[in-house]
Amino acid sequence: MRAESPVHFDEQRETWDVFRYEDVERVLKDHDTFTANRAFDPEKSSNDGDSDGDEDLPMLQTMISTDPPEQTRLRGVVDERFQPGAIREYQPRVEAVTEELLDDLEGEDEFDFVDEFATPLPVIVIAELLGIPAERREEFKAWSDALVARPEDDTEAELERVQREQERAQREMGGYFATLLEERDGGSGDDLITLAANAEKLTRGEQIGFCMLLLLAGNITTTNLLTNAIWSVKEAEVTDAIRTGAVDRQRAIEEVLRYRSPIQSLKRIAVEDVELNGRRIETGDVVTLWLGAANRDPAVFDAPEEFRPERHPNRHMAFGTGVHFCLGAHLARMEADVALGQLLEHFERLEADLSDLQPLNGLYGLESLPCDVS
Ligand code: HEM
Repeated sequence: MRAESPVHFDEQRETWDVFRYEDVERVLKDHDTFTANRAFDPEKSSNDGDSDGDEDLPMLQTMISTDPPEQTRLRGVVDERFQPGAIREYQPRVEAVTEELLDDLEGEDEFDFVDEFATPLPVIVIAELLGIPAERREEFKAWSDALVARPEDDTEAELERVQREQERAQREMGGYFATLLEERDGGSGDDLITLAANAEKLTRGEQIGFCMLLLLAGNITTTNLLTNAIWSVKEAEVTDAIRTGAVDRQRAIEEVLRYRSPIQSLKRIAVEDVELNGRRIETGDVVTLWLGAANRDPAVFDAPEEFRPERHPNRHMAFGTGVHFCLGAHLARMEADVALGQLLEHFERLEADLSDLQPLNGLYGLESLPCDVS
């Protein structure tokens, strides 16, 4: 498809599919022409970014669904706290959480990597950064699972059930964040809820949306990065080479991001008529940007279908590009680096069982990944 019809209209899904690296990059960087506001409606004179019950991340107005200058204002509140320097300071906490999870596995010969490691790690890390009390973590996990849940089939009853659950989780979680924001308003803590509460530039609704976005955006994505890393290094038989340092761990993680990108696609809407790679896109048309395909574009990557753990340079777009480039990219990279390093140090033997892989519905990851550590 990338070679034959790189910009292709899918009648059924009513979207343009964009596959080439160059085209995906152009759309993401041209936020004046392609809006991230999923509620954009060319019939309306004002498009203020109200949530439209978006099927991926139903939420209040946040940086991810707005364009500059709104997006710049919303992101500006927190940008500094996710820069490499700030993230480095947080590394010892991530090491301690990782160590605790490994200690909990003590004495087990086999465990499910997804359930017992890759899922709790990012949830605990972001909950700590936000300053959510440890005793509420389970509840937060249940809410965040409900918010990103996908229907198990196409029946109306199932779609309604998922939507009801999402609305309930959004209400409950939003209410809880509202209480915490109220309590911390004017406080001096260094957690992100206090930071949001003290951000005078944000309305209370925007502060709630901000907390929910941070909690949701990084969980399943980082879980999938960790899982795809264990899966890919086992498949390529480089686990020992990474353990000894013969293969660079950080490069291997970048290659996992390219080869098995946790987020496979993003959407934008054209706000004016525009030509893209010879096709005419009209105002209001939805454009789906296939990051997964762009990350395997032979015009940019040698042998793109091969997992090459030492690939360098590696200009993948797994974290997007342009103004919405993933806020949590440095955090996700650091978590993956710490996790992989400590796992390989802790377990002399870590044998992932790849015999019965169950892909996740809609996202690039696995339902489970049994690991033998006996
Ligand atoms: C944005 C991927 C982890 C927070 C994005 C985007 C991508 C992405 C592709 C661009 C969205 C767009 O352009 O529409 C990933 C992947 C991750 C990851 C693959 C893990 C491997 C995280 C973490 C956090 C986070 C850990 C936060 C703690 C965000 C936020 C945005 C974002 C807030 C919106 C930025 C903006 O609109 O300015 N992420 N992400 N992400 N990500 Fe991540």
